[in-house]
This record gives sequence, C-alpha cells and structure tokens, in this order.
Amino acid sequence: MDCTQNLSLGDPLEPVRKATAQMLHERDHSFSLPQPFYNDERLFQVDMQEIFHKEWLIAGMTSEIPTKGNFLTVQIGDNPIIVIRGAEGQIHAFHNVCRHRGSRLCVSDKGKVAKLVCPYHQWTYELDGRLLFAGTEMGEGFKLSDYNLKPVNCKTAGGFIFISLAENPPAIDEFLSTLAHYMEPYDMENTKVAVQSVMREQANWKLVIENNRECYHCNGSHPELLNTLLEWDDVTDPRASQAFKDQVAECTTRWDKDNIPYAHASFGLRNRIVRMPLLKGTVSMTMDGKQGSKKLMGRITDPDLGSMRILHLPHSWNHCMGDHLINFTVWPISAQESVVITKWLVHKDAVEGVDYDVARLREVWDATNDQDRRLGEENQRGINSTAYQPGPYSKTYEFGVINFLDWYSERMLNNLDDTPAQTLRQVAGE
Ligand code: FES
Ligand SMILES: [Fe+2]
Repeated sequence: MDCTQNLSLGDPLEPVRKATAQMLHERDHSFSLPQPFYNDERLFQVDMQEIFHKEWLIAGMTSEIPTKGNFLTVQIGDNPIIVIRGAEGQIHAFHNVCRHRGSRLCVSDKGKVAKLVCPYHQWTYELDGRLLFAGTEMGEGFKLSDYNLKPVNCKTAGGFIFISLAENPPAIDEFLSTLAHYMEPYDMENTKVAVQSVMREQANWKLVIENNRECYHCNGSHPELLNTLLEWDDVTDPRASQAFKDQVAECTTRWDKDNIPYAHASFGLRNRIVRMPLLKGTVSMTMDGKQGSKKLMGRITDPDLGSMRILHLPHSWNHCMGDHLINFTVWPISAQESVVITKWLVHKDAVEGVDYDVARLREVWDATNDQDRRLGEENQRGINSTAYQPGPYSKTYEFGVINFLDWYSERMLNNLDDTPAQTLRQVAGE
C-alpha cells in the first residue's frame, strides 16, 4: 500500500453529478435554475469541485503583498491557500497545509514573514515553498525535498492575483494581457487598500452573482448607487437614450486623447471589460459624485474616467474610476451562505484624512452591498419554498443573468458530462 496517498471512500457525489448534468441539459436557459442548484448541499459540493476548484479566482491584489515575505490567505471551500511574495519579487501560491501532519501554516489573513514556520512542530519552509528544516528527529532516509509545499497555479496581471486549484486550469492569458493593458493607467503596484469589508450573506453564491448581473432591481433598491451609476454598459443596449450615446461619444473622444482604454472587450462569457461614463456631472461612486480620493491613481490626470467595469466569472466584479478602484469577490461557504469581500483601493501616497475619508469612500457601496445582501437573502428564502419553480428572465433587463447561467451551465456540463446530451434526452423520454 502506498502510504503517501489519500485513500478514497468512493464518490458519494456520483449520482448527484449525473442528476446535475441532466437538469442542466433539460433547463430552459431563459428561466432561473431548478431549486437544488440554489439550496442543496450535495449539489453545492459539485459546484465547488467543478467550478471553484477548477476556475481561476482572484485571490487579491498585488499591492496587498508589496514586498518580500508579505502574504495573504484565502479559503476556497475546504482548501486554505497562501499567496506570498518571494525573494525576487515574484508571487507564489501554495496550499496552506504543512507537509508534516497537515496543520494550517499561516493562520492570519495577511502578514509578513521571513520564512514560513508551521505553528505545530516548527517545520520551516522557504518563501518559494521548499522545506528547509524539519527538526532532527525524522530519521535516516528523510529527504527535505520530498516535503515541499504543494504549489497552486498563480498568475498576475494589472495588479490582480489569479489562482487556480486545477491541474489544467482554463486558458486565461489572452484575457490577462488585455487586462494588463486596460489597467496600465492605474499603476496598480503603487496602490493600497484604503479599507475593506467582509460581508456574510445567507444566499447561494449564484444568487449573489445573478443579483450583480442585472440592474432591473436598481431603481427599487439602490438610491445611493443611482446617484452616479448609469445602468447600461453598451450603446447598443436597447434602453440606451440618445443623451447617453452623446455622452459616450464626448467621453471617448477625451479618453482617446489621454490614451485611456475603454472599448468593450469580451472573452467568451467569462470575462468582459468596458469603460462607461458615470451620470453626467459625477466622477466617482460617492454620495455626491465628487472624487472619493483627491489623489488620482497612476498616470491619470482627468478625474472624469467614468467607471471601467471588469467581470471575472465565477466570482468577481470591479469598478475602476479615476480616483479609486473597488474590487468585489464572492466566496461560497455552503449551499446557502456566501461571503462578499469588497476592497477600496487608492493611490499608495494618498493620505487618509487629507486626501480621502474612509467613511465617505465606502458609503455608497456599503449601502449597496447591504441592500443586495437583503435581496439575495429574500431570494434564497423564497427559493427554499416548496412553491418555488424556475421563473422567466427578461431578455432586455436580465441578459447578464442569462449570460452568467449559460457560462455556468457550459462549464459544469463540460466538466461533468460523460454522456452526450442526446442520450440524456432519450433517457428523459423526450
Ligand atoms: S504539522 Fe506542521 S510541523 Fe507538524
Ligand atoms: Fe444590486
């Protein structure tokens, strides 16, 4: 017996995987999903295996770990991960699991270390994951190099740190090079997190994303956000007015002059980037629409950059303005619980109390997040009812939700399917 491997108890999720694939094959893509996708713990485990353990996730921002030995930690389902800046400035990601008896190595969200030392028996690792020290008790034949930390895929672009637990993660380089280009004006290495919030929401992660992908609910729920946000993100949106199209034309002429990227860029349904104006006369997502930080970011000189929106499925959206940037990530906890982390970033030399006031900076999105949390939680409560059945999306107002679920469904079926769609339909008697 090979004692170095985990033994499997068999896969109790196999029937759930089959049923999940069948439901996805049979769904109407313009309707919300069947109930188990939102509230079943076993299906949640399949989501974690097939989406969150396979996709690229945004672990944080490079400026959060600016120098050698700075680290941050994240939790992907049951998997604790450490992201750390190495000796030459490069960023590594590892499973935050000691190779001795498996203790978590780093227990805080962020910090700085000279070496990674396990709190249990002090096995000590280099910043690049090599085991350096394991006491003197391990006996003859023990080789340090057999017990290096397990690496996690890690890439950076435009100030974002992406990690993936997959053996073969999806292709992402084309998106990353475009992202780097669009983020160039922000000089993200020279930014800092002015403040962050961690919000628990009693709702399935897909409900959090669905809610974010439409603004059908904005009029009824988000008075603070609508002080500055224009709902549509394309001049081709059938709801877009002539005044909006004129405003886009005026802004893009100005942005072209300053070499500020804005054009819509899409990478399948997983990623999209576009810069759109904010409400005329406003420049930032603050209550009065004025700058949240007096110091503009990077090489930016015109505060009126609207907001560059970056979508990264399965779990992040972002607003990049001239004076600050807001990064949102969603982390599933269980079938009916998620955590939303929001980070407000400003120029690293911006001084709190002089250039920006934290309460003012965060006010709009604190209110908006809390409003969205309540909407998500009520959505979850209703879906849990025996009366719930999938309901229709508006193709005009909720196309973003349709796109998200099409992407989710495609990824799930790609990973789950060992049975062609036709056979399943025949099984279902269609
Ligand atoms: S579990 Fe880490 S040193 Fe023992
Ligand atoms: Fe909302």
